[in-house]
Amino acid sequence: MKFEEFELERNQSLFENEVDYNLSESGVHPLPLKDILTQDEQEELLRTELFYGYTTGTPELRKQITGLYDGVEVDNVLATSGSAEANFLAVMTLLEPGDELIYMVPNYLQIRGLARSFGITVKDLPLREELSWQWDLDELKSMITNKTKMIAICNPDNPTGALMSADVMAGVVAIAREADCWILSDEVYRGAELNGVESPSFCGLHEKTIVNAGLSKAYRLPGLRLGWTVGPADYIKTAWAFHDYTTISIAYHSDWVASKVLAPERRKKILDSTRVHLNHNLGTLVDWMENCDGKLSLSPPQAGAIAFVHINLDMLSQDLTYHIRDNYSVLLTAGKWFGLEGFLRFGYGPPNEYLIGGLDRISQSIKSL
Ligand SMILES: Cc1ncc(COP(=O)(O)O)c(C=O)c1O
Repeated sequence: MKFEEFELERNQSLFENEVDYNLSESGVHPLPLKDILTQDEQEELLRTELFYGYTTGTPELRKQITGLYDGVEVDNVLATSGSAEANFLAVMTLLEPGDELIYMVPNYLQIRGLARSFGITVKDLPLREELSWQWDLDELKSMITNKTKMIAICNPDNPTGALMSADVMAGVVAIAREADCWILSDEVYRGAELNGVESPSFCGLHEKTIVNAGLSKAYRLPGLRLGWTVGPADYIKTAWAFHDYTTISIAYHSDWVASKVLAPERRKKILDSTRVHLNHNLGTLVDWMENCDGKLSLSPPQAGAIAFVHINLDMLSQDLTYHIRDNYSVLLTAGKWFGLEGFLRFGYGPPNEYLIGGLDRISQSIKSL
């Protein structure tokens, strides 16, 4: 089997630790454990014996995850190594070569790349900027065939930071029901809404729905590699059996910390700090953009530490990304790597002074063109 390269992740893996300013991340600057655990908890963690634990995730963790969704029981939850593993499990266990997958673009292209590599036919369905980054439901309807097995969504979306409207959500559910196909909703940016209103989940809106998420973005804990998948109990059993082949279980200390982080009060505290930080930094980015002589312009996000920025220059997104990286030591990500040319994605989640430092360098690079 031949895998197509995951351009976004490959470029990040190669350069994120080499540049002076890494603005390629999509999450908010990570938290240290000392800021989220009490002194007693820190000591307890040091004493905790690092078992394999439960390969589903501990009952405590799964219980906390059920609290994030309506009508979900522990049997509907499997803990995974990041939402990346949750996405992998969904593609591997629900799709067969020859099946069709309708896929939202622009997007984090993990599911698309995996599915194509496994011989699944992926049909890209673009979000329309003129519709405020929504799907046109007539287009979606027209793409359904008797081979359509899944509709894959990212909500809030990476890289646009857009939220799907209630009308479009309802339309997608109705279309999926009629076609009797799965909805796979990657909701890893949920909780990072700029207005503080948590976006509705697809969870439970249709019997055949899988929701994947984790602690890497809104919760500022990517290093825990903590994710989950939520879906019908039969699906969870199948995904669990496949997880025996992938990672067996998540890291025990990550499970332990995550169970504490997802307790309602602590969760709220972290998400509140995320929102304050993002709004502050977005202000910095918007002010900076006004001094770009129109060479770049922002398509305002609603969630996440990501801003999708129009390139108003005669230059392809990857070329501009490489120019900024190689000459000014700032790593951004190219629209092409999300399936849409003409844009750069700025990660605006780092500490404010660091963001300003990176933006100064980008100003120099833009002036040099
Ligand atoms: C939409 C989306 N899904 C999944 C992932 C993987 O995240 P993680 O495995 O850290 O949860 C990312 C990472 O950027 C992402 O943007």
